[in-house]
Amino acid sequence: MSQLLVQQAKAITGEITVPGDKSISHRAIMIGSIANGETKITGFLASADCLATIDCFRKLGIEIKKNKTEIRVKGKGLRGLVRPRERLYTGNSGTTIRLLAGILAGQSFTAEISGDESIGRRPMGRIAKPLRSMGADIQGRAMPGKEGELFPPLIINGGKLHGINYELPVASAQVKSAVLLAGLYAEGETTVREKNFSRDHTERMIEHFGGTIERGGLVTLKPTQELNAREVDVPGDISSAAFILAAATMVTGSELRIRNVGLNPTRTGILEIIHRMGGSVEVENEIIISGEPRGEIVARSARLHGIKIDGEIIPRIIDEIPIIAVLASQAEGVTEIRDARELRVKESDRIKTIATELRKFGVAVEELDDGLRISGPVKLKGGTIESSGDHRIAMAMAIAGLCATGRTVIEDTDCIETSFPGFAEMVRQFI
Ligand code: S3P
Repeated sequence: MSQLLVQQAKAITGEITVPGDKSISHRAIMIGSIANGETKITGFLASADCLATIDCFRKLGIEIKKNKTEIRVKGKGLRGLVRPRERLYTGNSGTTIRLLAGILAGQSFTAEISGDESIGRRPMGRIAKPLRSMGADIQGRAMPGKEGELFPPLIINGGKLHGINYELPVASAQVKSAVLLAGLYAEGETTVREKNFSRDHTERMIEHFGGTIERGGLVTLKPTQELNAREVDVPGDISSAAFILAAATMVTGSELRIRNVGLNPTRTGILEIIHRMGGSVEVENEIIISGEPRGEIVARSARLHGIKIDGEIIPRIIDEIPIIAVLASQAEGVTEIRDARELRVKESDRIKTIATELRKFGVAVEELDDGLRISGPVKLKGGTIESSGDHRIAMAMAIAGLCATGRTVIEDTDCIETSFPGFAEMVRQFI
């Protein structure tokens, strides 16, 4: 198990890029595999999670060639996947298991999907329920004390599906995407309603590959789709950029430009939050490539103040809450985060892990049922941090270490590979 040693940073200046967007990289492989013809992907995030998706689709009979700069996916069309000879293994990736389940629900064969120990604890009832109501046969593992819930490994007996009109009980792009991907195989229209909008990369990717989706308050996938290969250039991941933007905001004298970052409005909540806290993050040179907006973000150090964060924005910052909690520790006054119960079923129980680890830096954190209350500003003191195998906890606490006196040791940092290869090297440059 590897460790990351961090100490106080100097001013963070210059220009950087961050690795490709994780959500878009998964979808490019998946939709490329079920499109007709060869899809070329550049900017792909070659992280453990996305490599797990490639591995699964290879086992489903898709030829995927990968070199340093590009991926080529020989898509076989909607009906081209074949029964895998072994269990599909999704590693630590919730996006892989949930979206893949949607695709497998519509196949003419049975497949089994598993993952690592953390995946084994992630709830799958949320996808099983709508997929079953489309006609899918999905079996999973029960867990004592969690009656009515379903956990991996999953066995999916693919078959005939019909469209549904489904209201998401929690805003989740993974659930929405599983239903839409199953909808590609269903008779009739498939409609998904969400109270608060979650990331819409699946909708954009299906449209980019020639599918028809109507969007307004509802998302409706039109039936009998044929998807055709396209080029996909993946922008940098704003969820990875968020750690570096936060570092530049908190470390005095910083001014940093991040180039080629995804700016999909369902993902840019972090920029709104930094603004509302008094920070300075400016977007420049915005353009759309492969159906996704991207541009440059310039961040400068600033004095922050506490804010209340709840409601509609939560799904748009769901992966950024660990680093927002670190920002809150440097903000004058109280920051309260509510409506974020979903954090309890991420790679770790993030409400608990954020509270436990931030307290080690000397921060006053109150753990709430659906969020956190954090008082600042606090002069952080370095210490020994446990990642709980959660990449975003490891990275958020490493950034806290850049603002702390003394040495911070982050234990168990292999997990960072799931989303941000090169993070440790980048952080070392700031010290
Ligand atoms: C993702 C959706 C989000 C997010 C995850 C990636 C996706 O999960 O937390 O990191 O690519 O669709 P939920 O849909 O469970 O909120």
